[in-house]
Amino acid sequence: MIVEPMAGSTGVLPAPKGYLQKLRAICDKHGILLIFDEVITGFGRLGFAFAAERYGVVPDMITFAKGVTSGTVPMGGVVVRKPIYDAFMKGPEHAIELFHGYTYSGHPLACAASLAALDVYRDEKLFERAHALEPKWCDALMTLKGLPNVLDIRCVGLTGAIDLAPSSAGPGERGYAALEYSFHEAGIMLRLSGDTIELTPPLIVSEAQIGEIVDKVARTIKAVA
Ligand SMILES: Cc1ncc(COP(=O)(O)O)c(C=O)c1O
Repeated sequence: MIVEPMAGSTGVLPAPKGYLQKLRAICDKHGILLIFDEVITGFGRLGFAFAAERYGVVPDMITFAKGVTSGTVPMGGVVVRKPIYDAFMKGPEHAIELFHGYTYSGHPLACAASLAALDVYRDEKLFERAHALEPKWCDALMTLKGLPNVLDIRCVGLTGAIDLAPSSAGPGERGYAALEYSFHEAGIMLRLSGDTIELTPPLIVSEAQIGEIVDKVARTIKAVA
């Protein structure tokens, strides 16, 4: 069973309360491995090192990418529980741990970028920073309530989404107009998924910048009304 603990690219959809705990129980009952895709949610995005921590559910495997190098250099990885690790370690003594033959396995540049990013996360306490900033970020996003065509606003950690009603031209058209307007006129590059605006500010975002982001998003929403 592979699941994003918070569905990111489908529009920032946090799991309902107790959902991940129930999944864990079902997987345990039937001997199914539970895998969290933490490519988006890992490395402080939800105010913890991993979403698994935030939701108090221990998966059998975690996949990760993006935040491990702060996106500077491509890198991905997987964390596994000991029984899975041990199952892969039944080879001869000299066998390489969890060997897999990617072209760029263990790339030195990516490893250096990752080690540097991890140092900055720790030294500047950025996961804690994201956690502390979450209420302010969410409050700021919620001020967009009541703007034209806004159907729903969601936020968790330093992520957020605003669903816009589709225009009469068809699904995704208002979203595309918002994408174009934001970039060319409002001075912000927004990510749109259909008619949903998806936001993931950097963990170093300041309160002033949050205000600026929300103002520009508001301008964009009004422009595509
Ligand atoms: C949640 C999620 N999982 C997996 C991926 C793919 O990750 P990668 O390109 O590192 O394989 C992405 C890419 O955007 C993603 O957002």
